[in-house]
Amino acid sequence: MKHLISINDLTRDEIEKILALATELKRNPAKFHSVLQGKKFGLIFEKPSTRTWISFDVGIFSLGGGTIYLGPEDIKLGVREEIRDVARVLSRYLEGVILRTFAHNTITQFQRYFQKPVINGLSDFEHPCQALADLFTLREKMPNQGQPVLAYVGDGNNVLNSLLLLFAKIGGHLKYATPKKHTPDKAVVAVAMETARRTNAVIEGFFDTREAVKNADAVYTDVWVSMGQEKIRKKKLKDFKGMQVNDNLVAFANRDALIMHCLPAHRGEEITDQMLESKKSIVFDQAENRLHIQKAILLHLFASA
Ligand code: CP
Ligand code: NVA
Repeated sequence: MKHLISINDLTRDEIEKILALATELKRNPAKFHSVLQGKKFGLIFEKPSTRTWISFDVGIFSLGGGTIYLGPEDIKLGVREEIRDVARVLSRYLEGVILRTFAHNTITQFQRYFQKPVINGLSDFEHPCQALADLFTLREKMPNQGQPVLAYVGDGNNVLNSLLLLFAKIGGHLKYATPKKHTPDKAVVAVAMETARRTNAVIEGFFDTREAVKNADAVYTDVWVSMGQEKIRKKKLKDFKGMQVNDNLVAFANRDALIMHCLPAHRGEEITDQMLESKKSIVFDQAENRLHIQKAILLHLFASA
C-alpha cells in the first residue's frame, strides 16, 4: 500500500507520473469524474487551512468521492483517545485520510495503525503536497527551461524540507538561504545531498540571500512564523531581519524571475505587499495548482486501491 507522508515515499518515476497526471486532470477534469465513486475520505486537521482543506475537499468531490472534515475540536487525536485506537476505528469506515498535524510523529503513528493510504497535509516536518504543486507550477510557467533554478529564501521549515527532497529526487536545481539559527533539518539535507549525487541535482545552501537568488528563475518564500510557533514570534522576527523578499533582493535574480509563496503570507514580514502583487508573482497559480496536484496524488494512491 502506498502513502504520501514524505516526498521520500515517492520514486522519481512516481513524481513524474503524478505531474503528468496533474497536467491531464487540469486539461480534462470531466474524464475523471467517477474514479473515486463510493469512496469516503477523512480530512483530519489539527491546524487551520484554506488551500489544503478546500483543494482536497473539492478535488475528491470532482473525482466522485466524498469527505468528512474533522477539525481540532472533533476527534482530538491522542487526547480523547489514543492515536492507534482512532486509526484502527477509522480504517473500518474510510478509504483514506489526509492529516494535518503539529508533530510529524502523529502522522507516522497514525499510519502504523490505519490500514489504508495516508496523505500528509502538512506537519511540522514536511509539506509534500505543496512541494509537488510548486514544481508543477514552475514547470508550467517555464516549459522551455529544462531544470529551472529555484531560490528559496526564509525559514528552514516543513516547506523547505519537502522542496529539498523533491528537487534532489528529480535532479533539479535548488538554492536556499536561511538564517544560521534556522537551517533546514540536518538529516533532510544529508538525504537530499546524497540523492543529488545520484540524480545530478544541484542543491546549494547559503546564509546570504543575495547569493541564493543569483541566477534564479524563481524566488520562493514562506512565513517566518509557522502555525504553532506564535509563542516564539518575537524572537523569530528578530532572527530573520534582513531576509525579506523585496524589490532590492529580487533585483539580484534573473530579470524575469517569478515570485512564489505557498500562502498564507504575512505581508511586510517575509515578503512585501508589492512583490506579492507584482506581475512576477505566480502565487495564485500555485494555489490553484494545489487542486490539480491533490487530484493526481489521489489517483496515484487510490485509483488502483
Ligand atoms: N499552502 C497551504 O498549505 O495553505 P493552507 O495552510 O491554507 O492549507
Ligand atoms: N510553514 C508554514 C506553511 C503553511 C502552509 C506553516 O507550517 O505554517
